[in-house]
Amino acid sequence: MRLGVAGLGRAFVLMLPTFRNDPRVKLVAAAAPRAESRSAFESEFGARGYASVEEMAADPEVEAIYIATPHQMHAEHVAAAAAAGKHILVDKPLAVTMEDADRMVEAARAGGVHLIVGPSHSFDAPVIRARQMIDSGELGRVRMVQAFNYTDFLYRPRRPEELRTEEGGGVLFSQGVHQIDIVRLLCGGRAQSVTAMTGAWDPKRPTEGAYAALMDFKNGAFATLTYSGYAHFDSDIWMDDVAELGGAKDPENYGAARRALQDLDQEEETKLKSTRTYGAGTVPPTAQNNEHFGPIIISCDRADLRLRPGGVEVFGDTERTLFEVQLNEAPRKTVIDALEAALRRNAPPSQTAAWGRASLEVCHAILRSAETGEKIKLTRQVGVASEEETS
Ligand SMILES: NC(=O)c1ccc[n+]([C@@H]2O[C@H](COP(=O)([O-])OP(=O)(O)OC[C@H]3O[C@@H](n4cnc5c(N)ncnc54)[C@H](O)[C@@H]3O)[C@@H](O)[C@H]2O)c1
Repeated sequence: MRLGVAGLGRAFVLMLPTFRNDPRVKLVAAAAPRAESRSAFESEFGARGYASVEEMAADPEVEAIYIATPHQMHAEHVAAAAAAGKHILVDKPLAVTMEDADRMVEAARAGGVHLIVGPSHSFDAPVIRARQMIDSGELGRVRMVQAFNYTDFLYRPRRPEELRTEEGGGVLFSQGVHQIDIVRLLCGGRAQSVTAMTGAWDPKRPTEGAYAALMDFKNGAFATLTYSGYAHFDSDIWMDDVAELGGAKDPENYGAARRALQDLDQEEETKLKSTRTYGAGTVPPTAQNNEHFGPIIISCDRADLRLRPGGVEVFGDTERTLFEVQLNEAPRKTVIDALEAALRRNAPPSQTAAWGRASLEVCHAILRSAETGEKIKLTRQVGVASEEETS
C-alpha cells in the first residue's frame, strides 16, 4: 500500500517501527510544514515531501493518507484526502467537535473512500484477541468491563492548545478516546448512556486530568472507565511493569515527567515537545511487548478475561489460562491488517468514521455529564462489525 503521511510529529514517530517493519507498506510522500522533517523523510524513504496536504493528495502515487496532524486539523485534512479520492487512516480522536465529525463521515462517503480511525489502543493485539474470544461465543455474553489507567499524561510536554479543553486538550480527547474505543469494541459498540465526573486539579494545567464514567450498552453490558493522568500512581505496575508502548518500565524513572517540566515556561515546553518529532533525532520507542492501555477486566458468563501485554488471561470456572499473543516485528501490525482489509478486500474494521464519531460522542457526554450532574443519553452510536452480523 502506497501511503502519504500528513504531519511528521510525535504520532508519526510512534508509527515508525510499524511502517519500517511491515513489508505491505511503502511510504511514498509526506506533507509537513517543517523543511527539516520533510528532508529527513525524503532521504529515509526516497519519497516526496510537500508543504501542504492538498498538494500531497494530488500525487497520483499516493493511495491512502495517514493523517497525524493535531486533532483540530483532522477535518480539513480528511476533506482534502477524500476529495482527491484517497483512502484515509486518521489518528485518534476523529475530531474535536461533533460538527467536524459529521463533515468527515460525509466527506468519506462522498469521496467513496475508506476512513479508518487509528491507531488507537482498540487495535492492540490482546484487545483484538479478546474480541475474537467473545465472538467465538464460548465464554457466553460480555456482562461487565472494568477499564482503568493511571499515567503521567498531563505532564508530558504539550502544545498550548493541548491544555485547553475546548480545543481538544485534556485527557478526554487524547486518552479517554482510547479507553472508550476499547470498551465499545468489547461491549458491542452501541453505548446507550453515560454518567461521569471529571477532575481538573492542577491550576497550572487547567484542563481535565482525570475522569470516572459509567456506561451501559444496548446488549445489556455495562462498563466503568477510570483515568488519571496526574503522574502519581502508575497502573503499569499492574501491567507486568510494561509501559503503554510495550517497553520495559524503569522504576528508577519515577517522577521523570514532572521533573522534566519543572521551571519550563510554555514556550520552552512547546520546544521540548518538538524535540520528540521526526527529523529532530528522536529514536522511536522499542517495544518488547504488545502495547496496552492499562488494566482491563472483561466479565463474561463463563469467565473473566484480563488483558495483559503478553496476551489474554482467562479466569474460567476451574482453570486459569494465559493465551499468549506474540509481539510482531511491526508492533502495530493490526492497524496495517485493517488498512489492507479495507483497501484490498473492501472489508473495513469496526473503527470507521461513524465509529470514531460515536467514540467522540462519548467524550463529549463525559464532559457534559460532569458539568450537569446528569445521565447523558447517546444517539450517534454504531456497533461492532462482527456482533452486528450475528444479531
Ligand atoms: N495513537 C497514538 O499513539 C498517538 C500518539 C500521539 C499522538 N496521537 C495523535 O496524533 C495527532 C498529532 O499529535 P502529536 O502528538 O503527534 O502532535 P505533534 O505536534 O507532535 O505533531 C503534529 C505534526 O503536525 C504537523 N502539522 C501542523 N500543521 C500541519 C499541516 N497543515 N500539514 C501537515 N502537517 C502539519 C506539525 O508540524 C507536527 O509535526 C493527534 O491527533 C494525537 O491525538 C496519537
